[in-house]
Amino acid sequence: MSDNSITIVDNRTGKSYKIPIENGAIRAIDLRQIKADDNDFGLMTYDPGYLNTAACESRITYIDGDRGILNYRGYPIEQLAEKSTFVETAYLLIYGELPTQKQLDDWNYNITHHTIIHRNIEKFLDGFHYDAHPMGMLVSTVAALSTFYPDAHNIMDEESRKLQTYRLLAKMPTLAAFAYRHSIGMPYAYPDNDLNYTGNFLNMLFKKTELKYKPDPVLEKALDVLFILHADHEQNCSTSAMRNVGSSHVDPFSATAAAAAALYGPLHGGANEEVLRMLAEIGSRDKIPAFIKSVKEGHGRLMGFGHRVYKNYDPRARIIKKMADQVFEVMGKNPMLEMALELEKIALEDEYFIKRRLYPNVDFYSGLIYQSMGLPITIFPVLFAIARTAGWVAQWIEMLNDADQKIARPRQIYLGPARRDFLPIESRKN
Ligand code: CMC
Repeated sequence: MSDNSITIVDNRTGKSYKIPIENGAIRAIDLRQIKADDNDFGLMTYDPGYLNTAACESRITYIDGDRGILNYRGYPIEQLAEKSTFVETAYLLIYGELPTQKQLDDWNYNITHHTIIHRNIEKFLDGFHYDAHPMGMLVSTVAALSTFYPDAHNIMDEESRKLQTYRLLAKMPTLAAFAYRHSIGMPYAYPDNDLNYTGNFLNMLFKKTELKYKPDPVLEKALDVLFILHADHEQNCSTSAMRNVGSSHVDPFSATAAAAAALYGPLHGGANEEVLRMLAEIGSRDKIPAFIKSVKEGHGRLMGFGHRVYKNYDPRARIIKKMADQVFEVMGKNPMLEMALELEKIALEDEYFIKRRLYPNVDFYSGLIYQSMGLPITIFPVLFAIARTAGWVAQWIEMLNDADQKIARPRQIYLGPARRDFLPIESRKN
């Protein structure tokens, strides 16, 4: 006889509680009724890093970490990488279904026609030091967009949300490319509406004196696939930041700035940059065993390895590894590739990594491709942010439409001093 509930016996009081189970979870608030005595606040759960806490219900992205499966709205990532485009995938993530031709044309048109940024944002970019990290510039400029679009505060208005979505998807590549151009002292290259999303991005990055920039179709496609692979990944650190900050009902530009800041960290989207720094630091294949030994002794981490959810090969890394060959054919082989392959081989055979189920993640090979395209390593997390904006927006809208959601406000377990009286300075002892 099955009953979708759990019975908890509180050994402090001998009382038992029947708690419903819904979709494989219990509601944490149902534990509050479990009290040691009348003065007790009630039982809470303690879960630093949210290892086992679902903060929302979602219909966007499905991951099976043990089997290495990633689906957006039910569609396997492998099929989307092969058959879709980033712009179409962004539509799918945000609206839940693949667009019709008419919907896709409108969507494309609107994103293409919102790429220009206000001249004052350019002046703002000009104020950054020549070696400012492009990710710091992106975080600041996307936050600044909220001051240019005060209408973005109407977050409950569906039309306004649509407009801010176009603006975000369209302007992130412009901000990113301008940040890069600033860092190399090149004049900004303006968007070209004749090009597609990634072609235009390459144009804004690399256009020099030619009248019309012609993106290499292989690089354009490779970047598009990389953007599809990075577009969403359910409740990761930056998406949780988007939802948490968005739950205060701030405008989406401010919430996106918070999400991008979370992505900047080396344990998250900053890892692709760190992989290249790590490979450069190792220097040559013969130094790999000593490097692995030092990681196992607790000196740093093997960047681009391990994942909170995947305990199997990251399906995105598998696609990227295959695609790398196509890019290397156009741009020449990245000299770091041999080292990365050797590092992966050694790590996958090593007891330490096997025991902890640490496999290459999306960041292990993506940086090698970006570098071969002629991009500097500081721009790698920025590329991640452009793609992830689609997922952040999808998750933000889902959160706003979810009647269960409230302002994010976790509990704490207070372990500090009990109430005490203020001491005048002359009575204090060290
Ligand atoms: N190198 C060496 N040891 C590692 C690594 C690594 N890359 N990742 C995890 N471990 C060890 C860790 O030391 C711990 O060992 P022990 O049990 O002996 O203390 C064990 O594996 C579990 O690690 P954890 O830190 O508890 O795992 P987590 O789920 O909290 O962390 C992670 C996930 C991605 C932050 C972590 O694997 C990591 O730091 N990886 C390197 C950074 C990286 O590549 N990040 C990109 C993630 S994919 C892109 C994205 O979505 O952001």
